[in-house]
Amino acid sequence: MNLKALKGRSLLTWINFTPEEIRAFLDLTRKVKAESRKPALRQRFRGKTLALIFEKRSTRTRAAFETAFGEEGGHPVFLSSQDIQLGAKESIEDTARALGRMFDAIEFRGFRQADAEVLAKYAGVPVYNGLTDSFHPTQALADYFTLEEIFGSFKGRKLAFVGDGRNNVARSLMVICSKMGADFTVVAPKALWPDPELHDLCASFALESGAQLAVTDQPEAGVRGASAVYTDVWASMGEEALEAERAALLSPYQVNAALMAATGEPACVFLHCLPAVKGKEVAFDVFEGPQSRVFDQAENRKHAIKAILLATL
Ligand code: CP
Ligand code: NVA
Repeated sequence: MNLKALKGRSLLTWINFTPEEIRAFLDLTRKVKAESRKPALRQRFRGKTLALIFEKRSTRTRAAFETAFGEEGGHPVFLSSQDIQLGAKESIEDTARALGRMFDAIEFRGFRQADAEVLAKYAGVPVYNGLTDSFHPTQALADYFTLEEIFGSFKGRKLAFVGDGRNNVARSLMVICSKMGADFTVVAPKALWPDPELHDLCASFALESGAQLAVTDQPEAGVRGASAVYTDVWASMGEEALEAERAALLSPYQVNAALMAATGEPACVFLHCLPAVKGKEVAFDVFEGPQSRVFDQAENRKHAIKAILLATL
């Protein structure tokens, strides 16, 4: 497809991107990663500026945006909610319009997906969702890219997400897998199943792509046949008060050696978006073991984010 069609687009979720467009981002990520292995000074963002708004903490997302943009001559500006008025003394619409006059693009990590949508509506420049309570699309792109890197193609293979099936990472993986034709199973207690609206929407994407979507509360049966098992923290940022309740609900769902063996797939890999709480959602030996590809995922965040910036700016 012609990459020009992606210029000026915001990325708030993969829902409103076609499989061909997602394919273009994946292919560009591959190219960007290959280039990163060949030393050369590239200045594709020279003279450009990027605002990085963070209402929540971050290691990988901030570092990936800052390094991907800055090493190519762009000027990223970090604005935490400790520093700016976003949504407090100033409406999000007004912050969006002011920043849109000064920056070529805006990254937003925050709580409400609706806030990312308002920013994108009023800024007049591309807005990238660096994680909200609802979605984490730059993570899902890096994860799908990582799966393709490992398996060649991931179409028709199965990814099992084990843990909080309602969280931003699970929801984003469900969208990207159903669009791209990968089988996706959520393995979670019923109280943490994905909401039916998103499930039904993804089922309609799956009908087009040939993906199989499933939701189960049975850990061993749920991971059977999976080429990759993915987990994330039991309580996401903003849910700290729920930690004890989640631990009680989710301890039978810990990804440990027995659960990895229950896939029946010796080549199965373990994925985690990080940060991880070892000993909770994942056993130490799985996290540190040979099936773990979590630091490939972390590295690929940067390549995927650079591809997103290159395609849309
Ligand atoms: N995976 C991820 O988004 O990590 P950070 O919270 O460190 O950015
Ligand atoms: N679900 C996690 C992801 C962190 C990258 C959170 O929102 O805290």
